[in-house]
Parts: sequence; C-alpha cells; structure tokens
Amino acid sequence: MHLCLFASGTGSNVEAIWAAIDRGELAARPALLVTNRSDAPVLDRARSRGIPAEVLAASDYSSGEAYEKALADALTAHGVDFIGLAGYLKKIPAGIVDEYGGRIVNIHPALLPAFGGPGMYGLNVHRAVLERGVRWTGATIHFVDHDYDSGPIILQKPVPVYQDDTPERLAARVLAVEHQLYPEALQLFAEGRVQLQGRRVWIDPSIP
Ligand code: GRF
Repeated sequence: MHLCLFASGTGSNVEAIWAAIDRGELAARPALLVTNRSDAPVLDRARSRGIPAEVLAASDYSSGEAYEKALADALTAHGVDFIGLAGYLKKIPAGIVDEYGGRIVNIHPALLPAFGGPGMYGLNVHRAVLERGVRWTGATIHFVDHDYDSGPIILQKPVPVYQDDTPERLAARVLAVEHQLYPEALQLFAEGRVQLQGRRVWIDPSIP
C-alpha cells in the first residue's frame, strides 16, 4: 500500500498512522502527504520524518480542472495507490474520488450517519453530540464518495458520553480512539480483507 494522507491541520491521526507503520503494525509505505494549507502543523510532522509533502490548494489554480490535474499528477508521481483523509477540510475533486474508488477513506469523529455532513467538523461535532444528549458517540472510518461523510462505513468504535463532558474533553477521548482505529482500518485494506457490496462493507474474516 503506497499511502497518501490528506490533512489540513494538526495531523495527530497522520502521526498515529505513520507511527503504526514504524512499529510494523501497518504494512504501508508513507508515499505522500497532501495539505491545502502552507501553515498546517502537519507539514512539520512530514518534514521531520522526511516524508514527501505537497501543498495543493484549489485557490492557487485558475480552474477546478487545473487543480484536479495537479492533484492527480502529484498522486501519480509518488506512486500513490491508496488515500486516507485525516482532518482534511476541503472536498476532494470528483475525478480523484472516481479514480481512487474503493481506495479512498476518511475518518469522522462521531458515529455516522449521526453528526456528519457539511459543517460537522472539529468541535462542532462534539458540541452537537452534547446538545442532542446522546449517551454514546465514537469514531467512524468510511469510504469517500461524492458527498460529505456519506460513503459506506468500514469500521466504527463507540465512546461513552459523560455527564460532565465538555466538547473539548469529549474530542480528546474520541481522538484517542481514532488513533487506534485508523491504522487498524488501513491494515485491513493492506491485508485485502475489505470488500464493498453495495453500501455494505464486508470484512473477511469478520472482526467484532
Ligand atoms: C479528527 O477528529 C478527524 O476525525 C477529523 O478531523 C480531526 C483531525 O484531527 N476528520 P488531527 O488533525 O488528526 O489531530
């Protein structure tokens, strides 16, 4: 698996994935990091590990087509065959989603299909969870399709909501779970254990 990660911010999930590769728990090569922000802290993580990184923002291109081509060229140049979005706040161009169909996934800090969709990112998600009063939230790894947070679900892990939670405390507990779940999900792909059948994902052999 020649893995490209897309991230816009801190990149703690990116770090967790690369650390899992270092420990031999994820059979992947960190081929490329793509970010849309030249000041994203995740860039420093790539630099300190010597992992190739590209800053590619749609606003730097004259057209959507030119931006999509730049992205596609970067992915090809680095031999990318699998994409993981980890806190990437921009929509992936449709042509890239089509090209990498079944090989592009995202992590979301709630139990989809609840608390997903446009505007549901960062602390907004955890505020909405607390306002709605659900007892459980969690993390979801899902395929990327043409809408926000709507692709078939691959793995989920629940996190309890405590009475005295704040959005920040809840975010931190969910994030800790994300750091385990994302490398685990990617390793399932590396082992060829994930099959998509319609909107259902089959993992062979099944995991609890
Ligand atoms: C995570 O909560 C992830 O689920 C969401 O964005 C956040 C990124 O955090 N998509 P980090 O940059 O990996 O620390």
